[in-house]
Amino acid sequence: MITIKTVGIIGAGQMGAGISQVCAQSGYDVLLYDQSADAVKASLVRIEKGLNRLVEKEAISDADAQSAKARLMPAGSVQDLKDCDLVIEAATENEQVKNAIFKSVCEHLKPEAYLASNTSSISITRLAAATDRPGKFIGLHFMNPVPIMKLVEIIRGIATDTSTYEMGIEFARSLGKTTAVAEDFPAFIVNRILIPMINEAIYTLYEGVGTVDAIDTGLKLGANHPMGPLELADFIGLDTVLAVMNVLYDGLSDSKYRPCPLLVKYVEAGWLGRKVGRGFYDYRGEKPVPTR
Ligand code: NAI
Repeated sequence: MITIKTVGIIGAGQMGAGISQVCAQSGYDVLLYDQSADAVKASLVRIEKGLNRLVEKEAISDADAQSAKARLMPAGSVQDLKDCDLVIEAATENEQVKNAIFKSVCEHLKPEAYLASNTSSISITRLAAATDRPGKFIGLHFMNPVPIMKLVEIIRGIATDTSTYEMGIEFARSLGKTTAVAEDFPAFIVNRILIPMINEAIYTLYEGVGTVDAIDTGLKLGANHPMGPLELADFIGLDTVLAVMNVLYDGLSDSKYRPCPLLVKYVEAGWLGRKVGRGFYDYRGEKPVPTR
């Protein structure tokens, strides 16, 4: 097993930024890459603000925040990740996109390095099979927001070596996370349960059973959920929610996983949730306003 010192992160969206932050805070050097250089810049600014807030709240010292910032570096190309010990892919939830990323990473990355995907639902076995190192490939499924959520789901593909699996567990623990091990089935454990519940909430809205506010208030106060399912869908990103439902529907061939047509329509409209300013709520004003 090689020692992990430098971690490459691909995809500088909400998850890539969060994973980069916790890795840097835990002492790893981090190289962050995205096909959009602006996304990398925006993420680094967001991480810096996040670290400053932790200092203000006295959750971490100023010295720790400064050293975490110093460990975070932008990468201009996939080639820049060649000396990383572990590369974690956190790009858009699309199998073709992920396969293309891993293919180009493998052209440059040193052979002893590990690969991981933060996919919410896609088969780790299939993603691994399309790389040059299926034994060194693992699913590390972080939760959103990464700096706050304690869990990392560990998914072992059929070809994942035991030493890679052990590295995954050890690495997640070194970030202060608790692990839950899932078999490689569509959407694993957390999203197999969570995303169909969100899809059902969207059906409830679609069929006019309740308003956005009634559905979210119902689950918050009636089931003690910290966030309502529609608010949570907006937070995850409706494109990601739809992608996971499609993986469940295709992978398990059961009509109970049919994505709600209203979810499909929102994604087609580009109403992807909080990250674009509009989903089941409108985020462009001072306070989120329900749209239905
Ligand atoms: P996002 O939409 O915020 O960010 C995705 C990023 O990937 C974008 O910055 C985009 O430019 C980049 N990207 C797309 N194609 C690329 C390519 N070919 N090369 C480099 N970068 C590329 O998405 P988010 O929410 O950060 O999700 C990323 C991954 O994490 C997905 O696989 C998702 O399923 C997973 N995930 C998401 C969670 C959530 O709550 N949003 C929770 C856990 C996992």
